Amino acid sequence: MDAVLRIGGSILASPLKGALIRDYSRTIRQLLSEGNRLGIVVGGGEIARQYIAVASELGLKNYQKDRFAISVSRLNAELISSALGEFQIAKSILSAKSIFKRKGFVVMGGLRPGMTTDYVAFLLARALNFDLILKATDQNGIYDKDPRYNVDAKLLKELNYSELSKLIERASYTPGIHSIVDPLTVSGLPGTNIKLIVFNGLIPNNLIDAVKGKNVGTLVTP
Ligand code: UTP
Repeated sequence: MDAVLRIGGSILASPLKGALIRDYSRTIRQLLSEGNRLGIVVGGGEIARQYIAVASELGLKNYQKDRFAISVSRLNAELISSALGEFQIAKSILSAKSIFKRKGFVVMGGLRPGMTTDYVAFLLARALNFDLILKATDQNGIYDKDPRYNVDAKLLKELNYSELSKLIERASYTPGIHSIVDPLTVSGLPGTNIKLIVFNGLIPNNLIDAVKGKNVGTLVTP
């Protein structure tokens, strides 16, 4: 199985969780040893958002706020990468391709201002010709309404690109945006064949189940 694994900063780094990082590195190592090939993209989490908030207080511009968040996501990526026995992370899609070619996996954080690591995962999937993105998040999947504010929100097992697009159409990009899948990625999906599985990443075993094709979280299809 070839996939890009997008690990939310909201689960690994809000606050930083050493035990979960260790569990992920073990799970990833197991998947790699079984012949799976992975691109891994790690988000910035709460610490990135603290930098964004302080940068706002200082009156900095959006691209400057984003740059702080990118640095934090790269630090988080270095933690995962180091736990996998490899310090180097990729800072561009070109270097990601070359590291992936040599090692069979690659770890990245953020890429450039104006996007989230969802979109980095999307760009990486396209560059590696992968048609699966596994998004480990702090929710059980995609709901019909935001479950953080609606107790009656229903978990959706499967939806297509256009249904997903309708669900998040009111969101637009701002630094530190929290969206179940960021709007830029959702608008990039049509015309690709990329499937997306959004699952609860606080349970690393869900990743194994997702790779094995078991029903976890929400499946987004063309
Ligand atoms: P992340 O993609 O790191 O979010 O984007 P996260 O912490 O994992 O969030 P969850 O877990 O999905 O909720 C955080 C912010 O970092 C900046 C943006 O401001 C983004 O909103 N960022 C990240 C960039 O500007 N460029 C990138 O390539 C990545």
